[in-house]
Amino acid sequence: MQVVSIISTKGGVGKTTTAANLGGIAADAGLRVLLLDLDVQPTLSSYFTLHSHAPGGIYELLAFNEQDHARLISHTVIDGLDLILSNDDKGQLNTLLLHAPDGRLRLRNLLPAFRPHYDLLLIDTQGARSVLLEMAVLASDLALSPVTPEILAAREFRRGTLQLMQDIAPYRRLGIEPPPLQLLINRVHPVSANARLIQHALHDLFATEPGIVVLDTRIPAVEAYPRASTQAQPVHRVEYRRPKGRVTPAAFDTMRTLACELFPAWESAFNQLRAGAHRRVGR
Ligand SMILES: Nc1ncnc2c1ncn2[C@@H]1O[C@H](COP(=O)(O)OP(=O)(O)O)[C@@H](O)[C@H]1O
Ligand SMILES: [Mg+2]
Repeated sequence: MQVVSIISTKGGVGKTTTAANLGGIAADAGLRVLLLDLDVQPTLSSYFTLHSHAPGGIYELLAFNEQDHARLISHTVIDGLDLILSNDDKGQLNTLLLHAPDGRLRLRNLLPAFRPHYDLLLIDTQGARSVLLEMAVLASDLALSPVTPEILAAREFRRGTLQLMQDIAPYRRLGIEPPPLQLLINRVHPVSANARLIQHALHDLFATEPGIVVLDTRIPAVEAYPRASTQAQPVHRVEYRRPKGRVTPAAFDTMRTLACELFPAWESAFNQLRAGAHRRVGR
């Protein structure tokens, strides 16, 4: 089971959108996917229509070490796409974990119970520094961080996310290697030359940071992303063909390219996906 946390100390950069769409395309490619919504605001929890709603969620998982999957795991209407709901509406988990001796390692210690059942665990997080965020990163094989191509976002990234990675580095002494950080440039406006310049600047800025990879795949700013979320569908099902007169590739192609870049081991599964195969699934 690959564990990926989607992180940024900034809100609105596309974390939840990326988690939902990556989870959706991976499930459609035949992988068994579990989404974990660690955001206090349960945006990912309400992205997809649920086929069955478990009584528990992250609160029971993290506060009570609930082991019974039937009480924890909800199922979305998408085959192979399961979800542990965010239900920490009072925001108690952070304080609880802050004072627990195993706080930042609790999720990591709980993963063995999920490993046999899933190929991919995607963790969506809140856009702020917190114990929960550090816990998610320490449980991950890879941290994926969307960043929008504005210089302000880049500065915030350097200040927030890089600091977070530095702060968890001492866990190396316990034999826990912090995961590599992969940067996903999201919401690129295709026509603006200025945006392209900033993109190159971002590339140079982060290429010199050790342990950080800037992904080749960039996500264009297209209305298909908010539209897909309104339709409770992953975007590759919604925009499977490039609209006439647009240069930017179809979201189907973007998401497949991203999935292949992130998970080369599953490339053939992603390449077997057929554009538009789920046309009639939308409701
Ligand atoms: N590539 C994109 N193109 C257009 N809109 C996007 C794109 N990525 C995200 N959005 C929109 O931006 C808003 C914020 O995204 P979201 O994933 O909720 O951010 P976060 O989880 O980081 O707070 C949402 O309305 C989403 O639909
Ligand atoms: Mg979010």
